[in-house]
Amino acid sequence: MQRSASAIHLRNGGTSVLLDLDTAGTPAVVYWGEDLGELDSDEMTAVATASIPQRVSGGLDIPARLTVLPQEAFGWQGTPGLTGSREGRSFSPAITAVQLDHTATGLHLEAADEEAGLALRLDLEVDAAGLLRQTLTLTNTGDDVYELGDLCVTFPLPSTATEILDTTGRHLRERTPQRHAFTTGRHQRESRKGRPGADATLLLTAGTPGFGFERGLVHAVHLAWSGNHRLAAERLVTGASGLQAGELLGHGEIRLAPGESYTTPAAIGSWGHGLNELSARFHRSLRARESHPSSDRPVTLNTWEAVYFDHDLGRLTALADAAAGVGVERFVLDDGWFRGRRDDTAGLGDWYVDADVWPHGLTPLVDHVASLGMQFGLWVEPEMVNPDSDLARAHPDWILQAGGRLPVEGRQQQVLDLSNPGAYAYLLERLNALLDEYPIGYLKWDHNRELTDAGSTVTGRPAVHESTTALYRLLDELRAGHPGLEIESCASGGARVDLGILDHTDRIWTSDCIDPLERLENQRYTGLLVPYELMGAHIGGPRSHATGRRHDLAFRAGVALFGHFGIEWDISGLDAAEADELAAWVAFHKTNRPLFHTGTAVSVDLPDDSMDLRGVVAADRSRALFVFAQTRASASYPAGPITFAGLDDETRYSVRLSASPDTGATSGQSPLLWTQLPLVLTGRALRTVGVQAPVLVPERLAVIDITAV
Ligand code: DGJ
Repeated sequence: MQRSASAIHLRNGGTSVLLDLDTAGTPAVVYWGEDLGELDSDEMTAVATASIPQRVSGGLDIPARLTVLPQEAFGWQGTPGLTGSREGRSFSPAITAVQLDHTATGLHLEAADEEAGLALRLDLEVDAAGLLRQTLTLTNTGDDVYELGDLCVTFPLPSTATEILDTTGRHLRERTPQRHAFTTGRHQRESRKGRPGADATLLLTAGTPGFGFERGLVHAVHLAWSGNHRLAAERLVTGASGLQAGELLGHGEIRLAPGESYTTPAAIGSWGHGLNELSARFHRSLRARESHPSSDRPVTLNTWEAVYFDHDLGRLTALADAAAGVGVERFVLDDGWFRGRRDDTAGLGDWYVDADVWPHGLTPLVDHVASLGMQFGLWVEPEMVNPDSDLARAHPDWILQAGGRLPVEGRQQQVLDLSNPGAYAYLLERLNALLDEYPIGYLKWDHNRELTDAGSTVTGRPAVHESTTALYRLLDELRAGHPGLEIESCASGGARVDLGILDHTDRIWTSDCIDPLERLENQRYTGLLVPYELMGAHIGGPRSHATGRRHDLAFRAGVALFGHFGIEWDISGLDAAEADELAAWVAFHKTNRPLFHTGTAVSVDLPDDSMDLRGVVAADRSRALFVFAQTRASASYPAGPITFAGLDDETRYSVRLSASPDTGATSGQSPLLWTQLPLVLTGRALRTVGVQAPVLVPERLAVIDITAV
């Protein structure tokens, strides 16, 4: 940390954040991005002074600044950082810095408006990966209730950020990218679904026009929260532009009594020269967590697309035998095992093993799985309840609802109010009982209904906020009581992917669509936030259940390498050749998972969008594996060179088609083709000149091994 009388310079992980303290109200972040190096006090003040906006005619006498809490009281005419009131009063506070403490990399600011009876705390930190993390805490210091509208965290953008990238989607199609010009106005993405949603953008990104994975200056923000949220990019006519992130609160959801506080979820910003660098900061930061999984991610077989609700002990033990035979390490029994659950119309909430289907409990299957040397995992969906269940009949008041009527159903189910102590205690007891009875190493925690009308019958008020914090508490209690237990966050596929849930779980299910062609896009954009080891990627059957497309095993497996690798396919009837081929891919993954699960993920910008090139480079840049895929159509002929990002310019690498199982890549017969020869090229040559793309028919891929010599 460097400080002058009126500025503070925070530096960490290659990022500089420079704050101007000489502002009305709260400080302004005047710079966030590439490390500015050592600045002396005069230089800091000069950078801060240089950013003071110029006045134009017709406006206020003192042009407003984009501060860490933009407020109308200081002339800000964009969206304010705080809204709320005391029945209409205190609607426009003038919260002003009172005290500031700082460390080398962060600061804590206390600010207040005594007249309005509000105190604010800002915690801002630049972490070792160069991420900028902020939270705000608002305290009601007045003597009546303050009803909070919005409390949003703000990040400034450089004026060159004129293009926005975010993602949208639906069930089976999460993380579809969309781009648009960032002109004057506001681009806002919200979730009102009680979970981020299949359409959620994990990152709201703004950058220089045409930015890509390797090019352009980009800044993005993520909100680490699993409930309702709002992300926005706003550009004012004055040119000031920024990103905002906050929880989306219902009317009356947060009513602060005197002395009470509300803290925002962490809003986390990253930047980079290209999306690869921006993304690497998130990955580095996550991997530095004490709780980050450090053991090899077990190859998983999930029973869902293999057997669906057909829970038959003979069929499942045969599946387990086949799984162990190809090298699977974790066997996860999906939906269908509990009381009354013969299909998806009934049973949710009744978390007892169904005695009709499992007369001896789960023990025969669990023991069989253990005898094969695999870990046992179980699917649950604790927050949900079918109206056709004993639980719903006994406790209709535990269901989230508004106005004395039940919300519109989704998948024939409703949602429990986890903020209701009775509901919470019931779930804790049931889940503990299961975890105590069986050696369950893994829970797949599903959430298949979007929340609407999500009110508490106790308070009559919106309850998404309280339910979300109760969910985090429940997950933590279960993990604390069962050391080593891992939990996967699933929500109709990838509808609850955020760094809030990942603070309490160990992996996310990325999408119910495991068609590898669809997965290429889904995993690329999910992977901007989530590193591969936390992102479930399974090999499905030859014909995708989601799309009906057929793909070779090599294409399905090559795409699943980019994730926490698994299988979701009835492999009990494979012939010997197919089983051998699958086992070879499992073995290839196991050999290379340390690289995939600790290396730097890179995507390559290619001119032809029918080609896809992505890879992972070891932290010491001594080795990389890339997968080149021909996607929708044949490339124009000739395909042209492909270049490789992330390598060390000065190092000499041998480049060859990998010794992965055969992918069916055709490469011609000339002995002069690089695909026939191990070639040695420098990292610089690979980055600039590249190699000719292998010529592939659509929906085939080639694995390219690049190893330092
Ligand atoms: C939705 C999940 O995304 C699937 O993987 C599967 O677990 C089903 N629910 C089970 O109902």
